[in-house]
Amino acid sequence: MNNEIVLSGVKPTGKVHIGNYFGAMKQFVELQSKYKCLIFIADYHALTTVKNASLLRQNTMEIAIDYLAIGLNPDKSIIFKQSDVPEVTELTWIFNCLTPISYLKRAHAFKDAVAKKKTINMGLFDYPILMAADILIYDADLIPVGQDQKQHIEMAMETANKFNNTYGNLFKIPKPFILKNNVIPGIDGRKMSKSYQNTIELFESDIDVKKKIMSIKTDSKDVKDRKDPEKCNVFALHKIFSENIIEELKKRYLNGSIGYKESKEILIKNVIDRIAPFREKRESIKNDKNYILGVLEDGAKKAREKAKRKINLVKELVGITLK
Ligand code: TRP
Repeated sequence: MNNEIVLSGVKPTGKVHIGNYFGAMKQFVELQSKYKCLIFIADYHALTTVKNASLLRQNTMEIAIDYLAIGLNPDKSIIFKQSDVPEVTELTWIFNCLTPISYLKRAHAFKDAVAKKKTINMGLFDYPILMAADILIYDADLIPVGQDQKQHIEMAMETANKFNNTYGNLFKIPKPFILKNNVIPGIDGRKMSKSYQNTIELFESDIDVKKKIMSIKTDSKDVKDRKDPEKCNVFALHKIFSENIIEELKKRYLNGSIGYKESKEILIKNVIDRIAPFREKRESIKNDKNYILGVLEDGAKKAREKAKRKINLVKELVGITLK
């Protein structure tokens, strides 16, 4: 067991797909036997975009169930809800007072929203600082995230430095831990993403897995024709789900001994075999609301203990505590 602390947040924004699973969720499960892990549901971050209370509540519960279903273990990891640790938003305010507006204007997500002429609320503008507080309050060492979050981690590192240089050395400088194989192809070959509507859900029913895979577009080559596996969207998914027979499949593509229909059928079986246990676990816990809430409460208690200790030190250093 390594003593380093691994921390990551997940935004509760609807159904998870196999791109989310192979891109990030799976790694959390693996990391929890090697490190102390803190995994939280970033509900305050979600609030920057979600304006429907019952939807936010539902998504938060769902993502907790999803993570437990894939094997996140509350005996090993601290699993909690961001908003259950109010010290994080206190720290956000203190960091805000150290952060020039011009600095936050450089954030990719902000620039992107400006380019799209979106209305930008203060929460969205301040997103990176809330995230810095998330990370720094627990003295996290490693932050496993996809490439798209790298700038946020760098901003957290810089915020720690800014605080340390202004008030004294208190915050540990975290390191990003960029997840490899982060890009999983969707059924159209582009990156799997909700916005492209090319996803296979992680808890998809067998029938829908079949439908989606059968709908993958292929060229019109006949069974006996030689095929280029690298140009086939079915093969792209085999690379993830059919690892043990990938060389054989490749040969059969190249020498014209497999048709797209058979290739799809093999893929369907492998996808179903892979996700069925998750779906079963999910079914077995999803109606046990007390269990789910209990896990989150328990996690919040543990996370909050750490956060309280840290915020007290912060308050002393900045002059909020009167003693
Ligand atoms: N912004 C992250 C995302 O969209 C979620 C997140 C919030 C997070 N706080 C974090 C990730 C702290 C890592 C560490 O994926």
